[in-house]
Amino acid sequence: MARRPLNHGVERTALVDGASPVIQRIEEIPAEFTDIVAEIAADLDGLYGTSAGDDYRARAPKLVEALIAQPAVCAMGAFDAKGRMGGLILGHVLDGLGRIALLHVREPCRGLGWEGALLRSLVPVLKAQPLEGVLFDCLPACPLDIAGAMTDLGFTRVPRLFMTASLDAPALQSGATAFTLPLEAHEFAQAGQVLAAAYENHPGRFLDRDVRTPADAERFIGFVSEGMYGSVRPAYLRRLTQGGVAAGLILGARAAPGVGFVLHVAVAPRFQGQGVGAALMRELAAVFQNDGLHKMALGVTVGNPARRLYERLGFESVREVDSYAWWRDVDSPG
Ligand SMILES: CC(C)(COP(=O)(O)OP(=O)(O)OC[C@H]1O[C@@H](n2cnc3c(N)ncnc32)[C@H](O)[C@@H]1OP(=O)(O)O)[C@@H](O)C(=O)NCCC(=O)NCCS
Repeated sequence: MARRPLNHGVERTALVDGASPVIQRIEEIPAEFTDIVAEIAADLDGLYGTSAGDDYRARAPKLVEALIAQPAVCAMGAFDAKGRMGGLILGHVLDGLGRIALLHVREPCRGLGWEGALLRSLVPVLKAQPLEGVLFDCLPACPLDIAGAMTDLGFTRVPRLFMTASLDAPALQSGATAFTLPLEAHEFAQAGQVLAAAYENHPGRFLDRDVRTPADAERFIGFVSEGMYGSVRPAYLRRLTQGGVAAGLILGARAAPGVGFVLHVAVAPRFQGQGVGAALMRELAAVFQNDGLHKMALGVTVGNPARRLYERLGFESVREVDSYAWWRDVDSPG
């Protein structure tokens, strides 16, 4: 095979004959990071539109540099025999939860087990800290072959769908008759009760630590309101009350330029199946649209009946994506 250099990048030929990558912790961003940014941005171009890709190109280098400098963050690179980085993994521990926030392997290095090697190096570092569990729930920008490594590392796979809808979709715009209101800080405790109640006996509890108790849910809502999950305005956190009782809530954030993300929609069990969820979705869509956004996105676990609601509202599945969770004290379902 002819040698095919990728602009100051990694050459696949340097890695044949079973060469394994050298995994090293990094504290500075290597030059090849530019190529990783280019690949991730190209994926965002396709997923969300070019303004999202351009925004990533402009902001990612400084953002990742700042992240790597934080003590709670562990970054590791996978390097070829000539010292060029072909893969990158970023993990952190926050509030007792380990999270793999980024895993990317550059095109010439794919299919060679680099992603597994990165995971096998990072996960033990995270697990060595006092934490409840480790989550891999990011949306990868490249194909990753990680099922084997994750099973070996004790993780449970949760197949998910990433769905998007145009905010122009007629089904999202029509029939909004309910009246939802922005959630105020003094209502976070009550909203936390609704969120936890909606997930009682729900398979989604396994993946999502933040919905297990009302206190967890309240704390999560506080983090969302502080912009920890994407830039947020008070109108992106909404509630619906029926007969003076909190019936449901929806939590949104701006994921990328032009794109609003639904972090959670939840309806208290006795109000489910009565159109509350659809009303919350439609009203958040209207808020996003008034803010100039053009797309709405969300993730849903395969098998969750909520998928039918989203499809009815005009959402389409654009990517199948596996999330993984490992919990110290929670058994995997089934
Ligand atoms: C998903 C959820 C927000 C929908 O709210 P809702 O008020 O029950 O939904 P609506 O009445 O507007 O629409 C009903 C549709 O929601 C879906 N649905 C999901 N769970 C449901 C439930 N327990 N009861 C009734 N419908 C449910 C179905 O697709 C249903 O449509 P169908 O009648 O064609 O099957 C709500 O059921 C809930 O809180 N579930 C638990 C938390 C959850 O799974 N959130 C979504 C995570 S991605």
